[in-house]
Amino acid sequence: MRLIAAVDQNWAIGKNGRLLVKIPKDQRLFMEETMGKTLIMGRKTFEDLPGGQPLYGRRHIVLSRDPNFAPRNVTVCRSEREALELLQGIPDAELCLCGGEEVYRLFLPYCSTADITRVDYSYDGDRFLENLDHSTEWELTMESEEESYFDLTFTFRHYERIAGGKSRMAAV
Ligand SMILES: NC(=O)c1ccc[n+]([C@@H]2O[C@H](COP(=O)([O-])OP(=O)(O)OC[C@H]3O[C@@H](n4cnc5c(N)ncnc54)[C@H](OP(=O)(O)O)[C@@H]3O)[C@@H](O)[C@H]2O)c1
Repeated sequence: MRLIAAVDQNWAIGKNGRLLVKIPKDQRLFMEETMGKTLIMGRKTFEDLPGGQPLYGRRHIVLSRDPNFAPRNVTVCRSEREALELLQGIPDAELCLCGGEEVYRLFLPYCSTADITRVDYSYDGDRFLENLDHSTEWELTMESEEESYFDLTFTFRHYERIAGGKSRMAAV
């Protein structure tokens, strides 16, 4: 499956349950590239979506151990295994791993590509994604020209898995 994230210089992704920064072009691309697909995310990330509601036109699979968490139009999985079972019938190209830290950590081994918006700034974050630049399992295969949003600069990076990883099919 494909991981999608926005990170800062230290691969921080969030603070106090919120995103570090909202860049309109990044958000537009996220909406375009995930349209019609299945999004996998943790309960905390889901609750940070606009209005705490699922995004239009996408299927949401949300992980939570809380038996009272049952939002409308969302499939809730109570464990990694339950989520993996549910994902069995869905092609890789349809699956987008959308965070946050806990759920990235759980499913990163099953990802074969990662699309990272890399913001050239260091925030005081409290949630992180593994730094793929320091991993021997991942290779940066593409990077866009530098773009800017007010005084922030950022690039879009594409990474591919070159080693390691786990098969979703073999996991259940
Ligand atoms: N920059 C980005 O691209 C990006 C993307 C997404 C999120 N974020 C940020 O990341 C932060 C949230 O990350 P997070 O790590 O705190 O939370 P998270 O991964 O979004 O959600 C964690 C929750 O998922 C559930 N969960 C985790 N493992 C599970 C398992 N094995 N089985 C069942 N449920 C499980 C639990 O929900 P319950 O507590 O309900 O049991 C847990 O509290 C926020 O700041 C958010 O803005 C950033």
